[in-house]
Amino acid sequence: MSQPRLHPIDVIRFYAENGVDIALDEIAPNRLAEPAKIIEGHKFEVPKREASKPFGAPPASSRPVAAQRNIAPPAAPETAIRDAGQLAANAKTLDELRAAVESFDGCALKTTAMRTVFADGNSQARIMFVGEGPGAEEDREGLPFVGRSGKLLDRMIGAIGLDRTSAYIANIIPWRPPGNRTPTPQESAICLPFIKRQIELANPDILVCLGGPSATTLLELREGITRTRGRWFEYDTGQRKIKAVALFHPAYLLRSPAHKKLAWQDLLSIKKALNG
Ligand code: URA
Repeated sequence: MSQPRLHPIDVIRFYAENGVDIALDEIAPNRLAEPAKIIEGHKFEVPKREASKPFGAPPASSRPVAAQRNIAPPAAPETAIRDAGQLAANAKTLDELRAAVESFDGCALKTTAMRTVFADGNSQARIMFVGEGPGAEEDREGLPFVGRSGKLLDRMIGAIGLDRTSAYIANIIPWRPPGNRTPTPQESAICLPFIKRQIELANPDILVCLGGPSATTLLELREGITRTRGRWFEYDTGQRKIKAVALFHPAYLLRSPAHKKLAWQDLLSIKKALNG
């Protein structure tokens, strides 16, 4: 029985919808460039590959940061965690920290990401929002929360009188996990010293963890977001204790709009804490 033939576009759409939206090789293999094959008596001539311009190579600016800088393979996780801790501790300002994160090659996620996504908004703000990690749009622009969930986040904080001039926004992970998969515990552990130092240097009065992974990582909570959202915790920046709260992630609210009501209650609680 013959199999139905799929159009290549449908195959690509299927992959993209299921999270396979990047090619892991730096250069897409060009099967046509393989040695000429004899098929049913016909000899197919294939074009020769120019040494200086490989087939399928995207322009340098659209290649992953690692490929642009010939980054060596990441070190062992314990070494990477130790190096991240040292780099983070040595950074005395947020600019130095950004440079340290950009120079760090210990997290494999950097090898597939296009950009390092460090922060957006006002680092002097009294409130800091921390999400999980960049998505495709954020990876393209190099800024957190600029895609669909970012637009919703803007509306959510707008509802309590905030915007990106009065809020500081970052992520646990500064590089997009391929296909938007959840970062592994190892990847989170490697990046943790950076976000902790970022919170310490920004020194907000209020920390808002966006979504379960951010809350469990930063607030060391064991319960899920549906139980922890809206509850106030203490977060020790290393310099002082500040108020911290978990809020539903905007991406979750896009999928489950019925929970916007609960998020609204939590936003009002955040507004009260800011004014209190
Ligand atoms: N989701 C996040 O957690 N962070 C972003 O920057 C975008 C989407």
